[in-house]
Amino acid sequence: MADPTEKEQRRIMDTKNVTVIGLQWGDEGKGKIVDSLASACDYVVRYCGGANAGHTVTVEKERFALHLIPCGILHPEAVNVIGNGVAFDPVIALEEMTALRERGVEVTEKNLRISTQAQVVMPWHKQQDILSEQQLGASKIGTTARGIGPCYSDKANRSSAIRAGELVDPDQLTQKIRLIGTIKNAQYAGMYNAEPMDIEPIVEQYIKIGKTLAPMICNAGADLRRAASEGKRIMFEGGQGCMLDIDHGTYPFVTSSSVSACGVPAGAGIPPKSVGSVVGIMKAYTTRVGAGPFPTEQNNEIGDRIREQGKEFGTTTGRPRRCGWLDTMVVQYTSELSGVDELALMLLDVLSGLDELKICTGYLIDGKPVGDFDPIMLGKVECVYETLPGWSEDITACRKFDELPENAQKYVRRVSELVGRPVGLVSVGPGRDQTIPCDSVIKGII
Ligand code: GDP
Ligand code: IMO
Ligand code: MG
Repeated sequence: MADPTEKEQRRIMDTKNVTVIGLQWGDEGKGKIVDSLASACDYVVRYCGGANAGHTVTVEKERFALHLIPCGILHPEAVNVIGNGVAFDPVIALEEMTALRERGVEVTEKNLRISTQAQVVMPWHKQQDILSEQQLGASKIGTTARGIGPCYSDKANRSSAIRAGELVDPDQLTQKIRLIGTIKNAQYAGMYNAEPMDIEPIVEQYIKIGKTLAPMICNAGADLRRAASEGKRIMFEGGQGCMLDIDHGTYPFVTSSSVSACGVPAGAGIPPKSVGSVVGIMKAYTTRVGAGPFPTEQNNEIGDRIREQGKEFGTTTGRPRRCGWLDTMVVQYTSELSGVDELALMLLDVLSGLDELKICTGYLIDGKPVGDFDPIMLGKVECVYETLPGWSEDITACRKFDELPENAQKYVRRVSELVGRPVGLVSVGPGRDQTIPCDSVIKGII
């Protein structure tokens, strides 16, 4: 398989930190990989998105679905950080903390910190997310209704935003909620004919939340920069997938933050050189939740089969995911964008039992091959497919590359070749142990 040059290898080994990102439209299996790398890391940091994420970690028979709290929380030694780039919903964060504690996971200010600069998701953001989608009807984005777009809109607007650091100052918070809440009520009445929200209970609720969270709210960026200078290992946990990136995805059918590795420095408050090695997580096929172009979608029995076998239903919303063949045009583009050092090829087991597997290797528009990938063209392309033979064996118990059926090995090699990156590991089930190490270039981590 791919052989990194000596120079490349040296560069990767020199960097301590690691960034884990999704290379498709989200739900690639980032949670499993973040969890598996977390024991080797001092910090695990979310830098984008918010509770729209749903990251699953399976520990023996137990399944954890984390939305806001980084997946490092299951590792007692790791410090977990909700960075400044996150749309932080304190109500969901508190619910998640309670649920974790009930299951015996320790969550304290020692292992969970929230940046003072994280943007707070307020009740009016969630309300607007729902009302706006209703108003759009058939043109809706298909959001997770977690208030993400409205929260980041207010961040850019500045005067109508609240940051986590402001939750701990009851007087200032009271003033701000009253002012912003009154403005939102007037706006939503005009825009959506909405009933006004009762502001005073929101004031009370958020003052209480601020008191509870105060020990965790801190200058997280300064902590991370210090940790990096002390040689600690930091992992950046991506949310969503690069095709949902606000700048580089299938706009407007995207989320509202910078989810690729390009978003890490700004969303965590660290210099670009601290991004470290980049592990790109990809499914062996493709899924998407919500609206927007998806060239390899199989709205047929193949798609149904993948959905059923892969249990492809949203971790956050429970919606059925749209399913289709692997699109290496997409993964090549997103790997290039994020400077991916190696790939983690997930859910390979889901493809077992299909006679033939198709991989999209190119696009045509009006019968002509397209040049540089541009997400804007995705609604117009016709896919060029390569067909590979499938395998019938159950591969969920394989633990070494050469234990995989020959056709599964061929599939992995071909993916690596088409994307132009080494496959560091193959995942054959949700469990921590259902992982096959391959050509990892990130020494000491995978
Ligand atoms: P994330 O958002 O990228 O963390 O991914 P999700 O948790 O939303 O969705 C991935 C789903 O696939 C979860 O239910 C995982 O438990 C599951 N999963 C992860 N890796 C594998 C794998 O290799 N095989 C199978 N069958 N399931 C997997
Ligand atoms: P993880 O981290 C899959 C999608 C939504 C919708 C679009 C915009 O689990 O991979 P938003 O609520 O962000 O305004 O919705 O983005 N979306 C995701 N799809 N996985 C996610 O996160 C997602 N987060 C947002 O379905 O299409
Ligand atoms: Mg998910």
